[in-house]
Amino acid sequence: MKGYVLITGATSGLGYEFSKILAKEGYNLILVGRRKDKLNEVSEELIRRYQVYVRSYVVDLSKDNEIEKLCKEVDLLPIEILINNAGFNVYGEFTTTDLKKEEEMIWVNIISLTKLTKIIGKKMVEMKKGKIMNIGSIGSYIPGPLNSVYCATKSYVLSFSQALNEELKASGVTVTTICPGATNTNFAKSANMESIQLFNNNVMEVTAVANLAYKALDKGKVTEIIGLKNKLTVLITKFIPLSLTLKVASKMMR
Ligand SMILES: NC(=O)c1ccc[n+]([C@@H]2O[C@H](COP(=O)([O-])OP(=O)(O)OC[C@H]3O[C@@H](n4cnc5c(N)ncnc54)[C@H](OP(=O)(O)O)[C@@H]3O)[C@@H](O)[C@H]2O)c1
Repeated sequence: MKGYVLITGATSGLGYEFSKILAKEGYNLILVGRRKDKLNEVSEELIRRYQVYVRSYVVDLSKDNEIEKLCKEVDLLPIEILINNAGFNVYGEFTTTDLKKEEEMIWVNIISLTKLTKIIGKKMVEMKKGKIMNIGSIGSYIPGPLNSVYCATKSYVLSFSQALNEELKASGVTVTTICPGATNTNFAKSANMESIQLFNNNVMEVTAVANLAYKALDKGKVTEIIGLKNKLTVLITKFIPLSLTLKVASKMMR
């Protein structure tokens, strides 16, 4: 029998898709999100469709005490895969956006991911086995005007995860960073950025993104930029001046 997978942000979008993929693979699931009704709905669906064991935890990952509580509750479970997926964006001019929301975003996108990786990663190293998937973005590579803090959080995810993967090379534990571009989930709606150019061009379907991400995780790849157009976009930025990259990024964000 396969072990446990912990997935944050399992109530919607990519996290929900990862939950279905992993349940289909026969893993038992630990699902994390804030919305209890959604967590129950997803858990019931997965149990019914895939006959797996599912635990769900209502956790606000922007709150340190709730992250600590989650870590204690899952401490004794042999977690073979950790998917740090929960995340959100605060869109708008930095001088006018709500600092409190940005602080929460830094907690969810950076601090909770780092804490869960530290605590669960340590156990994986002891077990000499484990896979960690951290969700970055093409914003990990390209600064985003009107998304300045969000893209900076995703740069952190990429830098941290790539370095950690190298550090853990001989341990049997891999750390894979997934960098999607615009994807059809609740992400844009929650940040009130549905009408910007980025989300009106080449938006990928969530199932396709999740499947490509899972393949990369399974192979233990260090980094996977999802989709050919996103790969090319990142590649081009290596050959053009930063000023031009920022100009184009600024247009895409409006
Ligand atoms: N969609 C895109 O275009 C895109 C592009 C690049 C990267 N990404 C990244 O992909 C990841 C998944 O996002 P998505 O596109 O699937 O968006 P989504 O549909 O909005 O899902 C976000 C998930 O994160 C959870 N979440 C948000 N705040 C939370 C908090 N404080 N505590 C616990 N859970 C929280 C939400 O659960 P609850 O609401 O139940 O708390 C939800 O399950 C994120 O890291 C995002 O940055 C998305």
